[in-house]
Amino acid sequence: MRPWRNVVGMKAKDGEIVPWTNQLKLDGPVEVYMADVEAGMQRTLVAILEKAKSTTEQWNHEHPREIWLEDYNAQIALLTTQIIWTEETISAFEELESGAESAMKENLERIRRRIKKLIERVRDVDLQMELRVKIITIITVDVHGRDIIDECVARKIQDSTNFLWARQLKFGMEKNPAKKDDPKMEHQYCMVTICDWLTWYSYEYVGNCGRLVITPLTDRCYITLTQALNLLMGAAPAGPAGTGKTETTKDLGRALGLRVVVYNCSDQMTYKTLAQIFMGLAQSGFWGCFDEFNRIAIEVLSVVSSQVKNVLDALIVYRQTNGAKTGFVFKNAEQDEDIHVKNTVGFFITMNPGYAGRTELPENLKAQFRYCAMVVPDMILICENMLMSEGFETAKELAKKFMTLYELCKSLLSGQTHYDWGLRAVKSLLRQAGALKRANLDIAEDLVLMKALRDFNIAKIVQADVDIFMGLIDTLFPNMEVDQAVKAELREACAETAIKANLQTDTGYILKCEQLSDILEVRHSVFLIGASGLGKSAVWKNLAEAQSLDAMDLRTIWQQVDPKAVSSDELCGWENLKTKEWRDGVLSSMFRNMNKNLGKFNDTQKCKWVVFDGDVDPEWIESLNTVMDDNKVLTLVSNERIPLTPEMRLLIEVSNLRNATPATVSRGGVLFINEADIGWMPYYESWRS
Ligand SMILES: Nc1ncnc2c1ncn2[C@@H]1O[C@H](COP(=O)(O)OP(=O)(O)O)[C@@H](O)[C@H]1O
Ligand SMILES: [Mg+2]
Repeated sequence: MRPWRNVVGMKAKDGEIVPWTNQLKLDGPVEVYMADVEAGMQRTLVAILEKAKSTTEQWNHEHPREIWLEDYNAQIALLTTQIIWTEETISAFEELESGAESAMKENLERIRRRIKKLIERVRDVDLQMELRVKIITIITVDVHGRDIIDECVARKIQDSTNFLWARQLKFGMEKNPAKKDDPKMEHQYCMVTICDWLTWYSYEYVGNCGRLVITPLTDRCYITLTQALNLLMGAAPAGPAGTGKTETTKDLGRALGLRVVVYNCSDQMTYKTLAQIFMGLAQSGFWGCFDEFNRIAIEVLSVVSSQVKNVLDALIVYRQTNGAKTGFVFKNAEQDEDIHVKNTVGFFITMNPGYAGRTELPENLKAQFRYCAMVVPDMILICENMLMSEGFETAKELAKKFMTLYELCKSLLSGQTHYDWGLRAVKSLLRQAGALKRANLDIAEDLVLMKALRDFNIAKIVQADVDIFMGLIDTLFPNMEVDQAVKAELREACAETAIKANLQTDTGYILKCEQLSDILEVRHSVFLIGASGLGKSAVWKNLAEAQSLDAMDLRTIWQQVDPKAVSSDELCGWENLKTKEWRDGVLSSMFRNMNKNLGKFNDTQKCKWVVFDGDVDPEWIESLNTVMDDNKVLTLVSNERIPLTPEMRLLIEVSNLRNATPATVSRGGVLFINEADIGWMPYYESWRS
């Protein structure tokens, strides 16, 4: 018998810790105590929210918000802020009605003052990382709140029924009629409304994970998704790669305190695996986000449509009986199952239409989902907002220059398949620029951004485009001279290991090693592109060796695999349909070993690389889509989910990306090796010596 354990608090992936108000003893069968854990989590968050809400009166006096937020975890601090924003705006509307004409203007001023205070705090370089993320999250949401009120003032909107206000996510404390049996019925719960859709905050602990910038497109997506739920349907954001379909869905879930489970769909999925997923979602009330849904085989999809309908029908009954009847029979699984449905459940499918290896959805399935087109993200707004939260003061102008550069790059440079100027590329560059800014406080802002744009992009630009690219940079940032950042230590280490391996310490070669290290800092998947024999492997191997030197103290270990040498079943694992036996694949066991420090891996290794050496094609690489984007989890057909740890990186060595879909290309950083970069001299020198 294992000894009892006590639950004393929660720890998020990002490190935030929330102690529980009451400890919980884990005892008895797992399904019982896990339900207790869930209830305990919700009770804790409800209690914290109550306390946070009751202390907001001091915001205008002795305990202003920028200090107040230190007392609460990020999720509740943000939620309280949003509740106050809603309450204050509603009362401003009421005052307007009773004739106080400047009420909304005063509201706007107050919001502006508060944001200014927060921005002042972020500028402090010594701010703790966790607190910085928390404040940035609140600023990000606040800025949107401010813009809405700004528009209300500008358009002289007088009443709260206006669509501009109605379509916002609004949070308020109300009594929940569904909790009638609650012994303390005076409890108020957090109610969320958007248009005529209403739900109750679910208090799933999400940690301090940051939030997306809310743009007009996000707003539209929120309305469509919630209206779909209102009509008891699923929703389907569709559009090209990297427009924020998956992340926006997850973000809405976070705003509602709901767990969103992302699945990477693949053609290995059968109706049985999907049945399990649907039953799990229905009973837990979580949202399921099925990424790349149209990779599932068409025969399976037609069963899926009855599975979805099964659950949605149960929701209809739930609504008709006012929540009295939750039980239903789930058919279309291996055997019929009697289960219960939780009314928060939602199904979301995100997909790119028309890419290779995708099917057209059958009509009966299409009819169950409400479509939402997400084609052009509001890049300037996102860019400006993120620059601001990285501490740039002239964010507006810089964002314009940044976007102009990328627009021009898209149209003027040659159309290489590995070029991607989309949202993912923008985000990783912004992260790089932020780090540069914090490291060089004495350099002017535009110089920092120019340097980041130049040095970071040059790594992927082919020789023929270099002059045009440098010309563009010169035109947008005229008369600016700045040296390349030098990581002297890394340079020396790379040279040292290169000599040991009998390689030449050519500047071009060492530079490529440095560029790779820069990319690996901000992206967890990287394509190394170049014709064979140009030294791709030599570059990453040398970097790995150099990092492992004592001076660098970044012990690096890698494991290599040729994805085309095995079938895709053997790569990701498969289930024997007859014996129901699960066979691990190469990747799944590799990822698990790295994640759990099994086999040759241990926690002294600071970098763990999975190196793919082989052609890229949609058949295998799209099974890694959720690993390569912000989700960072490998979802297997066995319903196992293996998250990527911060040490893990994916390196994909390939001669070209001709067969990859844009969904793949946008997910990775690129290091391009030109023929001239390393050249033939080193070979000659090596041969001579
Ligand atoms: N409104 C937004 N604010 C900030 N970042 C965003 C926003 N929308 C999308 N992103 C970023 O863009 C990237 C791509 O989003 P994702 O949802 O993965 O794209 P896809 O449409 O391919 O599913 C992610 O890194 C995400 O964080
Ligand atoms: Mg996606």
